[in-house]
Amino acid sequence: MNRKTLRGLVGVILFVAVGVTNASAAKVIDVSASVHNFSLAAYNEGLPWGSSNETEVCIFCHTPHNANVGNERPLWNRTDPTSAWIFYNSTTLTPAARPGAVGTVKPASLMCLSCHDGSIGVNRVINESNITGPIKFVNDPAEVFIGPDIFGVNPDKRIGGVVGDPWGTGNLNDDHPISFSYSAAQGADLDLHPIGDAQLAGLVFYPRNGTADHVECGTCHDPHVAYDNSGALGALTNASANPNYAPFLRISNTGSTMCLTCHNK
Ligand code: HEC
Ligand code: HEC
Ligand code: HEC
Ligand code: HEC
Repeated sequence: MNRKTLRGLVGVILFVAVGVTNASAAKVIDVSASVHNFSLAAYNEGLPWGSSNETEVCIFCHTPHNANVGNERPLWNRTDPTSAWIFYNSTTLTPAARPGAVGTVKPASLMCLSCHDGSIGVNRVINESNITGPIKFVNDPAEVFIGPDIFGVNPDKRIGGVVGDPWGTGNLNDDHPISFSYSAAQGADLDLHPIGDAQLAGLVFYPRNGTADHVECGTCHDPHVAYDNSGALGALTNASANPNYAPFLRISNTGSTMCLTCHNK
């Protein structure tokens, strides 16, 4: 190999290395290295949301058999919450996104709310592990709800609660509107970009087979994305994770770019 080829080769190696550095700033899918890992591994790292006996990661949400399926629930291992939903409303809200038009929470969001509404325990699954049996958390072996005493203060991660009633369920009154048709809202609102722009940017509308275009939790959030590269999750941390995707975002919201993908403000 002559000097020139060698230099060329070094160049290629450098190029590849730079490529790898850039790739590390991309989105990393790794649910095990996220706070959605509720298994014994998380418990062993001293994380308050880790189960004291369940080693499986996917089981909290998915099961290979006897699942709650249909209408966008991918082999879902949880029952739907049945809270009396209170939706966001305002005098300026486009009618298509108001409670009357929304009607009820659609399945894609019911999945998230089966934990985040606060009415069903994180450890309540349909199909328990054949090895472990009932999933236990050391603080409360019976049923562990997302709520102030275990997972945070004020409503925090409990989307069904509100400030003043952090143990509330089904109260989405202080949350971004969901379960409405984006196109219906966009058609009546000049301050919204065409749905194609949002889809191109990486946002998702439901059902995913395109029979409607509802805004749901999963429009903005991706439940499997890893975003901690700081070591906060101990051995579960993924060094390549990109913090711009916190908390479980579909696309980065740095500089409010995600909001501006839909809102023309
Ligand atoms: C905290 C809950 C949660 C955990 C834990 C979880 N998932 Fe999911 N998963 C979801 C939700 C919600 C969806 C539907 C999301 C959507 O619309 O993109 C989904 C979708 C999926 C899908 C179908 C859609 C797709 O994107 O391909 C597969 C396959 C999947 N998950 C596999 C897994 C595996 C394997 C694990 C464990 C390593 C896991 N999930 C852990 C919540 C979870
Ligand atoms: C099996 C129960 C469960 C399901 C299902 C679930 N989550 Fe979570 N989620 C949790 C728990 C527990 C936490 C951790 C709470 C904490 O950190 O205090 C959490 C944390 C979060 C966070 C905050 C992360 C952070 O870094 O602060 C977001 C955002 C989130 N979940 C969104 C979702 C969305 C969106 C869905 C549906 C696509 C979903 N979750 C489904 C249980 C669940
Ligand atoms: C329009 C986009 C959008 C929708 C729809 C949406 N979220 Fe979020 N959510 C966000 C953003 C952005 C953040 C982070 C806010 C921040 O860091 O400033 C967030 C934060 C959260 C958090 C962390 C709250 C905290 O205080 O730590 C949880 C939990 C959560 N979302 C769950 C949900 C659930 C469950 C749904 C559906 C009922 C949902 N989100 C629907 C955009 C959305
Ligand atoms: C998927 C597209 C989408 C994303 C992403 C999104 N929104 Fe929205 N948002 C809507 C739609 C559609 C409405 C209902 C139509 C309307 O009244 O503007 C709405 C409603 C609102 C409202 C209530 C307006 C009112 O009149 O009461 C506010 C405020 C808002 N969004 C802020 C945000 C912020 C802040 C973000 C980023 C964290 C965000 N949105 C992300 C689509 C989106």
